[in-house]
Amino acid sequence: MSTLKAVRGTRDLLPPETALWNRVEATVRAVFARYAFGEIRTPIFEDTQLFVRGVGEETDVVSKEMYTWEDRARAASEKAQSLTLRPENTAGVVRSYIEHKLGDTGMLQKLFYIGPQFRRERPQRGRYRQFWQIGAEVLGPQSSGAESPLRDAEVLEMLATLLDELGIPRAAEANGNTGWKLSLNSVGSATDRPRYINALKAALEPVKSTLCEDCQRRSETNPLRVLDCKVPEDQPIIDNLPKIADFLDEASTAHFMQVRAALDACDVPYVIDPRLVRGLDYYTRTTFEFTAASGLGTQNALLGGGRYDGLSEMLGGPKAPGIGFAIGEDRLILTLQALAEAASKPLISDKLDAFIAPMGIDQNAAALMLAKELRAEGLSVEVGDGSFRLKKSFELADKLARQIIILGEDELSTGFMTVKTFANGDQLKVARADLAAKLRG
Ligand code: HAM
Repeated sequence: MSTLKAVRGTRDLLPPETALWNRVEATVRAVFARYAFGEIRTPIFEDTQLFVRGVGEETDVVSKEMYTWEDRARAASEKAQSLTLRPENTAGVVRSYIEHKLGDTGMLQKLFYIGPQFRRERPQRGRYRQFWQIGAEVLGPQSSGAESPLRDAEVLEMLATLLDELGIPRAAEANGNTGWKLSLNSVGSATDRPRYINALKAALEPVKSTLCEDCQRRSETNPLRVLDCKVPEDQPIIDNLPKIADFLDEASTAHFMQVRAALDACDVPYVIDPRLVRGLDYYTRTTFEFTAASGLGTQNALLGGGRYDGLSEMLGGPKAPGIGFAIGEDRLILTLQALAEAASKPLISDKLDAFIAPMGIDQNAAALMLAKELRAEGLSVEVGDGSFRLKKSFELADKLARQIIILGEDELSTGFMTVKTFANGDQLKVARADLAAKLRG
C-alpha cells in the first residue's frame, strides 16, 4: 500500500522547530500586550462572500487562490452555502467587529491573531498553501481616533520593536544587507484611487502591447497590478507610468506626511516605494511591506499591511476606519533560522536539564520518583530504564540532556547522587537537597 503524505504546499512542524515557533509567539504576545492589543480568534472558514466583497473579486487571492466548496444542505429547509478556508484574516476580523457591534463601545479596538491561512499558490520556499500569519488590526468609530496617522505610525513602530526584539537587524545596521527594510506608500482615499486608475489606464493604452502578457491583461482588468510586475524588460516602462503620489488629495497628502513625521520622530527607518499598491482591494491611504534579505529567496515579503478605511462599509457595517498588518510566520522563522546559521549560533537549546539513569530495574521506581520531584521543581528531565547498559545511558543522556544523574543502590542508600556535566566532563557527588540548584547551575 502506498504511504500517505502531507498534501502539496502543506507541512508538519516538528520539535525542536516548534520550540522556536513557540518562542516567537511568546515574544509576539508580550510585545503586543505592551501596545494594548487583545487576542481575537475568528473561524478558519467563512462565507465565501466575505472574501469576495472584502478582499475583492478581481484580486489574485479571490479569483485564483481560494479553497472554496459548496457545503451540502443537511435538511430540506437549509440552503447549500458556499464556504471558503480563510486566505487572510482582516476580512474575518472586520466581520466580527460588525457582528459583535464592537463599534458601539465607542472605543478603539486593538486586536491581534495568530493562525493558519490558506491560498492555492504554487508552493516554493517561503510560499505554502497552508501558512501562518501573525496579524493585528486597529479599528473603531471615527470618534475613537482610528483614522489618525498616529495609529499608522504606532503600528509600524510596534513592528520595528518586535523585529528588534526577535533579533532581526535593520538593513541599515546589518552587514551584507541581511536586515529588514520597510517600504511605505500611500494609495490614496477611495476617491483618489479611481482618478489614479483612470490616469494609469490612459498611460498604459499606448504602451501595453510592449509589456508582458500578464501586464497586457492586467492593463484591462486591474491596472494597479501592473505595478507589481517583476519582468525585467517591463521595468523601464512601468517606472515611467504616473505615480499615485501625484493623485492624492490634500487630506490624503497631509495624512501621509503626518505618518512619515511620526516615524521619523520614533526613529523607524523606511523608504518610499511609489509602486507599492498591494494585492488586496480594501487598502486606502497608507500601505507598507517589510522585506528581509535573509533566508527567503524570491519570497522576501516578511509582512504586509495598510489602511482599510472603507472595508467595514463594504461588508455592510458602520464606518470604521482601520489599519493592520500580517506577518508571514513561516517566513519569519526562515529568516531567524538563516540569521542563526550565518552567525553559527544555535537558535534554541533543546537540551533537557538532566537525564536520570537508574543502574538496574530495582531503581526504576526511585528514578521515576526523583524525576517527578525535579520536574515539580521546574526542571526538564528525562528518565532512562534500569535495563539499559551504562554505555547506552551515557550516549542517550549526552544526546538529550546537559547532565546525567546516576542512580544506583549506593546513591539511594547514601542520599548522594552522582552528577556528570557533559560540557566540561565534571563528575560530582551531590546531596539530594542541593540537586536542583546544581542542575540549574
Ligand atoms: P498579504 O500581503 O496578503 O496581506 O499577506 C501578509 C503576509 O503573509 C505576506 O507578507 C507573507 O509574509 C505572508 N504570506 C502570504 N501568502 C503566503 C504563502 N502562500 N505562504 C507563506 N506566507 C505567505 C494580508 O494577508 C493582509 N490581511 C494583511 C493586513 C492586515 N492588511 C491589513 N491588515
